[in-house]
Amino acid sequence: MSSVSPAYPDPMTTLHCFSGDFLLVRRPPEPNRPLQAWDAADEYLIDSFAEISPRPERVLILNDQFGALTVALHANNPQNWGDSFTSRLAIEENLRLNHLPDSVAYTPSTAIPPLPAYEAILGRIPKSLAFWRQQLALLRPLLQENTVLLLAGMVKHLSSDAKEILTGLGTVEVFPVRKKALLFRVTPHKDASLLPSPPETILSLSEYSLEIGGGPNVFAREKIDEGTQLLLDQLPRMPVSSHIADLGCGNGLLGLVAKRLQPAAALYFFDESYQAVAAAEENYSRNNLSSQEPAALFSVDDGFSHYEGELFDLILCNPPFHQGHVIGDQIAWQMFTQSKRQLRPGGELWIVGNRHLNYHIKLKRIFGNCRQIAANPRFVVLSARR
Ligand SMILES: C[S@@+](CC[C@H](N)C(=O)[O-])C[C@H]1O[C@@H](n2cnc3c(N)ncnc32)[C@H](O)[C@@H]1O
Repeated sequence: MSSVSPAYPDPMTTLHCFSGDFLLVRRPPEPNRPLQAWDAADEYLIDSFAEISPRPERVLILNDQFGALTVALHANNPQNWGDSFTSRLAIEENLRLNHLPDSVAYTPSTAIPPLPAYEAILGRIPKSLAFWRQQLALLRPLLQENTVLLLAGMVKHLSSDAKEILTGLGTVEVFPVRKKALLFRVTPHKDASLLPSPPETILSLSEYSLEIGGGPNVFAREKIDEGTQLLLDQLPRMPVSSHIADLGCGNGLLGLVAKRLQPAAALYFFDESYQAVAAAEENYSRNNLSSQEPAALFSVDDGFSHYEGELFDLILCNPPFHQGHVIGDQIAWQMFTQSKRQLRPGGELWIVGNRHLNYHIKLKRIFGNCRQIAANPRFVVLSARR
């Protein structure tokens, strides 16, 4: 059993399971809203894993959010597969917190997990069904007939198609709802036929001669977001800049338009989703920008956490207002505070957000100033200067 550090006495942070008691924290931390770093779907998966006999040795975990699954199964050398760099950091942090080796075997969703066959696969069903279907299609060659496949989610977040999608892998057993979580067990079947993965949508921005695509887990892959559009409409007025960052870049649309408007600028794209950064890079080359100087930088990162390069003249950002299914402004807050550190004196952060999020209050508190650039009934574009 792992010992629980007295530095975190809140029982909300201690997961009790078959392999021990473990402290778990969320990332970024939310001091004013101590949400649990796991849910009943994680517990269902962990308890069901504990019943597998003999205990599997080659285990693959899908979409672990903050590390509950990895920490609980640490003794079974789990491999991880997912699309989130912040989840990867949270998994490492929680392993460290419990005095466990923190070298996580994490395969980004832009690649295929390395082992040819797993005895058990445990996974959280992701928010995007298109991404889910892609994961299952890539998973299928890794399954053997005796692979134990356990998948779970919270009932309120599951689509009615979840079971049907799984029948593409084999026979599906649905377990009773427990603490509002649902668990599926799939017995793989060679002849099962998966629903095809949805084709990639290519968006055209004729006014900028841009074609934009992206994988199934990329934000607004089928239609430009209304907030993004309002910020795009303001970009012809952005200050002349030599270093421009697209923070939380998604498919890279904001940065690509900025590059079209200011071809001499160096562009820097950051996102915590591996698929997003891959899409931004692919879109950059799809639009024949890769051969142009100065070269662009594409980074999978938690905001600017690991960035040590040039300060920026301009940062463009449409921050997320939820993490998974949980609505909150802690990521936006982190993005704004990090942006202040990464701007040169006089440099500007331009953001767009829903009006009701009141980002102007945060920007004023962090930067001491905030200017409204544009607004419509739902969104507002704001700028703050360092
Ligand atoms: C509202 S979307 C905006 C995407 C794109 N800029 C657009 O306007 O279409 C927010 C983006 O922030 C990314 N994101 C969320 N948390 C992040 C973090 N901690 N660091 C970097 N990017 C993050 C998400 O993956 C998502 O692509």
